Amino acid sequence: MWTLVGKFHGGSRPFKAGDRCTTCHDKETADMGQKMVTGQKAEPTPPTGKRPAIPVTVQATHDAEKLYLRFQWEGTQHVPIPFVDGGKMDPENQTKLALMLATDEAEYASQAGCWGTCHEDLRTMPGHPEDPAAAGLNLDVNQGVTKYIKESRTKVEEKGRRGKKLGGWDKLKADGDIQAELSAHKFMDLLRISSGTGAVEDGHVLEQRIMTGGQGLVGSIKEEAGYWTVTLERKLKSDNPGDITIDSGKLYNFGFAIHDDYTNARFHHVSLGYKLGLDNSEAEINALAQ
Ligand code: HEC
Repeated sequence: MWTLVGKFHGGSRPFKAGDRCTTCHDKETADMGQKMVTGQKAEPTPPTGKRPAIPVTVQATHDAEKLYLRFQWEGTQHVPIPFVDGGKMDPENQTKLALMLATDEAEYASQAGCWGTCHEDLRTMPGHPEDPAAAGLNLDVNQGVTKYIKESRTKVEEKGRRGKKLGGWDKLKADGDIQAELSAHKFMDLLRISSGTGAVEDGHVLEQRIMTGGQGLVGSIKEEAGYWTVTLERKLKSDNPGDITIDSGKLYNFGFAIHDDYTNARFHHVSLGYKLGLDNSEAEINALAQ
């Protein structure tokens, strides 16, 4: 959200005019991580000693039925989080990998990947509401306000002028209108795998983060000789609401995040948004036929 506000982010104007995050940042993600992990930019509570960035190898293939993804990256030494009892936010899961897929129909997806789901008023973000349940909205706020996209709200404040609070978590559209957005592909398909519980989840993000309802994901996650490896298999076609269907000849928006070292919620490493395609030389992540 703050990336849209000029006083916080040098890229806000060109982004609004259509640039992608990768247009400016593709080659410098490690430097950006360094600025955030040292507290120089964006991050008010950086855990001392946390690594700034993770170089990840992403490989993709497909056959007639499925998309196959493989992620690999180096493990890290444990850095206790000072403001959490025991130093681990999610003691059950050392590592989680999540990814989002979307068509261009969801606003910002084609320019920003997952970043369009992140708002100043989400749980663990600085502007989160103290008692979201009090608003009585049709949202699961047990753990606080989770990711949402703009299409699910009647208004999302993106300028923050004259002290206006950024976000719009409580400006929820009516159920019927949200269903209509879902049918119009205005959602982010969300997949996640967790190392400790072994959970493999397949959901979507529209009015909130929903971790069920997808056609089902198959995956593995393990650490060996200091390297983490995740493999994921997903059907190319699905009729389930909240799933996108991947056809050849089209590009899809793709972004992923790694919660390394027992972290949770906003304390993850996130990728920029990339383009995924099948046998498509224009794709940044090109899944080749097996
Ligand atoms: C037109 C170029 C441009 C675009 C497009 C752009 N940025 Fe930036 N971004 C910048 C510049 C310049 C800075 C450094 C100066 C500043 O912080 O204002 C920056 C800073 C940042 C930082 C802080 C770390 C750092 O290196 O200073 C983050 C994080 C960031 N951008 C993320 C994004 C994301 C996410 C998007 C897409 C939603 C995006 N940017 C789009 C130009 C751009």
